[in-house]
Formats: sequence, C-alpha cells, structure tokens
Amino acid sequence: MTLPLAGRTALVTGASRGIGAAVARALASAGARVALVSRSQAALDALAATLPHTPVVIADDLMQPVAAKTIAAAALEAFGAAPDIVVLAAGTFPLGPVDATTDAELETAFTLNAMAPLRLLREFLPVMRTRGAGHIVFLGSLADRHVFPSNAVYASTKHALRATAEALRAESRGSGVRCTLVSPAATDTPIWDAHDPDAQAHLPNRDEMLRPSDVADAVLWCVTRPASVDIDELRLSRS
Ligand SMILES: NC(=O)c1ccc[n+]([C@@H]2O[C@H](COP(=O)([O-])OP(=O)(O)OC[C@H]3O[C@@H](n4cnc5c(N)ncnc54)[C@H](OP(=O)(O)O)[C@@H]3O)[C@@H](O)[C@H]2O)c1
Repeated sequence: MTLPLAGRTALVTGASRGIGAAVARALASAGARVALVSRSQAALDALAATLPHTPVVIADDLMQPVAAKTIAAAALEAFGAAPDIVVLAAGTFPLGPVDATTDAELETAFTLNAMAPLRLLREFLPVMRTRGAGHIVFLGSLADRHVFPSNAVYASTKHALRATAEALRAESRGSGVRCTLVSPAATDTPIWDAHDPDAQAHLPNRDEMLRPSDVADAVLWCVTRPASVDIDELRLSRS
C-alpha cells in the first residue's frame, strides 16, 4: 500500500517535544521525509533516530532574525526544493496578569509565536508559488479567538498568528499554496510544566487535556486532503 505522503517533504518547527514531535512522527509514518527544527540538537537527533525516510535535523534558535534564512537554506539543501509541507509549531506559553508582564516575556512571546512563523514562511512562499504547490500549517490555539484572565500576552500572539494565516490564505487562494490554522485547546505537553496545572484550580488538569497525538492526527488529516480542498481552520477540544 502506498503511504499518503510517500515522496513528500515536510519541515516541522518545535519538533523536539510536545505537539511538534508528535506531528513529525505522524508525517514520517505517513511517508514524508521530515526536517526537524528546534534549538535542541540532542533531542532532535534522538527523535530522528526513531523516524523512517532519512529525517533531517536543523538545530537553530527561532528567536534570532537570521534563523529563518539559515533554516530555509538547510532545508533547501537537504530536500533540493522547498518543503511540500511546513508546520509551524514552535511556541512559548506565558501566563500572568497584564500588570505583571515583563519586557522579556513580551519580546520572547511575540518573536517566537508571531514573528518567527512569518519570517520562516516568507522564505518558502516564492518557491511554493512558482511551483504551484505547498501547504503551510500554523499551530494556533483556543486563545487565537478566546481570551482568558492571565492570558493577554499569549492570546495576543495567537490572535496575531491567526491574522497572518488569514491574510496568507486570502493572498494564496488559487495559487496552489494552501494554508491551514490548527487551533487546539489545552494539550498535555511540557509547555504546561512551568504552570503546574494540576495544582491550579483555574487551569485544566492534565488528564482532561488533548494528547499531542490528537493534534498530530488533525494536522495529518489536513495535509492529506486532495489538492483541490482547502481546510482553512480546524479547531480541536477535548470531548
Ligand atoms: N500544549 C497546549 O496546550 C497547546 C494548546 C494550543 C496550542 N499550542 C501551541 O502548539 C505549539 C506547540 O506547543 P507544545 O505544547 O508542543 O509546546 P512544547 O512542548 O513546550 O514545545 C515547544 C517547542 O518549541 C521549541 N522552541 C521553543 N523555543 C524555541 C526557539 N527559540 N527556537 C526554536 N524552537 C523553539 C521547543 O524546542 P527547543 O526547546 O528544543 O528549542 C519545542 O520543540 C505552540 O505554538 C503552542 O502555542 C499548545
């Protein structure tokens, strides 16, 4: 049986753990050759060792403006072309009231969650448009539409990311380049470790959260639809 992504390439940011790692596993299992991006060379190497189809490891820091060009160059060299699929999953999750927000927190959250995805996809778009094919998947969040107390910074970055996804979709319609926003509710990953959700009454318990593989299944479904079908937005929550 031919795998649905056989012969395809995919670049996944945030691939060292959590949702990005689950997405990388799902895409590779479906036949794609994946490029794994995060800062942690050792974690990426360990994941790559478990995946089929000769994965590529690209260790880089998306906080650095130059990283988009370095990562794109490494992917182009490894694949010989822009990836067929780009999944933008790297992210950070600050929580706290507005008046306790620090400049460092703002800088990190807006750069990593909102600016880095735009910088990276900008590198691939011209090639994808010329080729007439490509699929960009943004990892949004419940917080890209809904805002909760202590969530101002994170929700602002995810609203900005949704705006980028919607603009890109409008600009790309008919070009062969597709764009999907996948927006999960709380998902049990290391992103929650700093907030100890099981000990906080106002946060969901980990056993009530989605699993990273639930989100990865959704991403895989989006990128395996026929080329004539756009999945604009897919929102997931725990039933
Ligand atoms: N978990 C949830 O409840 C949830 C819900 C909705 C949406 N999301 C979104 O889903 C995405 C993935 O979240 P997650 O829960 O899987 O988070 P996670 O487990 O904390 O993983 C975050 C990933 O981002 C990478 N990363 C962080 N800083 C980076 C940097 N400066 N440069 C490059 N990579 C960096 C991390 O790798 P390194 O540390 O190795 O660099 C890691 O691979 C995020 O965009 C998040 O906002 C998560």
